[in-house]
Amino acid sequence: MKVWELKEAFGLDNLKLAQRADPRPGPGQVVVAMRAASINFRDLVVIKGGYGRNIKTPLIPFSDGAGVVEAVGPGVTRVAVGDRVCPLFFQGWPAGDPPPDVAAGTLGGPLDGALAEKMLLDQQGVAKVPDSLSDAEAACLPCAALTAWSAIVTKGCIVPGQTVVVQGTGGVALFALQIAKAAGARVIITSSSDEKLEKAKALGADVGINYRQEQDWSRIVKEQTHGVGADHVVELGGADTLNQSVRAVRGGGTISLIGVLSGAMAELNLPLVLTRNVRIQGITVGSRAGFEAMLAAMDLHGIKPVIDSVFPFDRTLEALSHLAAGAHFGKVCIDHTA
Ligand SMILES: NC(=O)c1ccc[n+]([C@@H]2O[C@H](COP(=O)([O-])OP(=O)(O)OC[C@H]3O[C@@H](n4cnc5c(N)ncnc54)[C@H](OP(=O)(O)O)[C@@H]3O)[C@@H](O)[C@H]2O)c1
Repeated sequence: MKVWELKEAFGLDNLKLAQRADPRPGPGQVVVAMRAASINFRDLVVIKGGYGRNIKTPLIPFSDGAGVVEAVGPGVTRVAVGDRVCPLFFQGWPAGDPPPDVAAGTLGGPLDGALAEKMLLDQQGVAKVPDSLSDAEAACLPCAALTAWSAIVTKGCIVPGQTVVVQGTGGVALFALQIAKAAGARVIITSSSDEKLEKAKALGADVGINYRQEQDWSRIVKEQTHGVGADHVVELGGADTLNQSVRAVRGGGTISLIGVLSGAMAELNLPLVLTRNVRIQGITVGSRAGFEAMLAAMDLHGIKPVIDSVFPFDRTLEALSHLAAGAHFGKVCIDHTA
């Protein structure tokens, strides 16, 4: 089978097309013929070798994809040949809180990922996808959408009428917008681009703030919430945005700590957190139970991932450059069948 592989070293220049033997399923395993994948910011970091020492070469990158079960091994009961499935970001987190070794079972590093014609997976590590989602749409979900779901629903428990702030218009952000709107919330979104803010409003955002023009954007969030602050902030910027988020959230509100786009080490105004009883909730993608609940909600509410562009499998390097340039709005996908 054809794969994209980092064979001996990290770096975009070392990501090459290669051949590997077709996998065969053992007991409890399935082989999935991949049809599509999508890129997350994390994939870029992994490819560049910036995701820590536990991720080693040789490696097939990308956590997120979708395909069709092509073969099953003895004892497989959760899926059958012909089922459309997504491989789960965390192969070893069925439900509840994350197990201690959860990161060891992550696709796209340290485990081989979705940039392959076929994937060999445990039956516990896949979830069936509804017919309402295309292959490319389903491929957008395992990391970015589940992270947004965990923030807004599983941990955030957002109810109608609450106000949610979402930072930027990347993959996680747009899912957070869509899921928060489906939950009945009012959404304030930030972006570096007025054009992207208009697109976010077309998707349902109630207020847009250009964070380049308005660096003290928490002031506008306060204005928009009668001086109270937002119930929930989806924190994606990291170092440069966390203190604005602390100012933007209401007393007793929650910051879902997800992203580190501007840096992973932050100075934090501790008194503002503790005196106002702000809850800072770490989020790491989510469990299989969360993923299945999210798929049911997306099917029922007709939520469709926003796809920026789809590149053929052989043009994956162009897709990565496109994401790195930051002009995308929504998910950048790979079509394994093109
Ligand atoms: N904890 C988890 O489980 C988890 C899961 C998924 C992702 N993440 C993290 O979440 C972050 C976003 O991931 P992604 O895949 O959604 O990325 P992405 O699709 O590449 O999103 C990039 C977008 O983020 C916005 N952005 C960049 N710098 C910003 C800043 N300083 N303040 C506000 N917005 C900023 C920009 O939006 P505009 O162009 O509109 O300005 C940019 O287009 C990354 O740090 C990623 O590692 C964490």
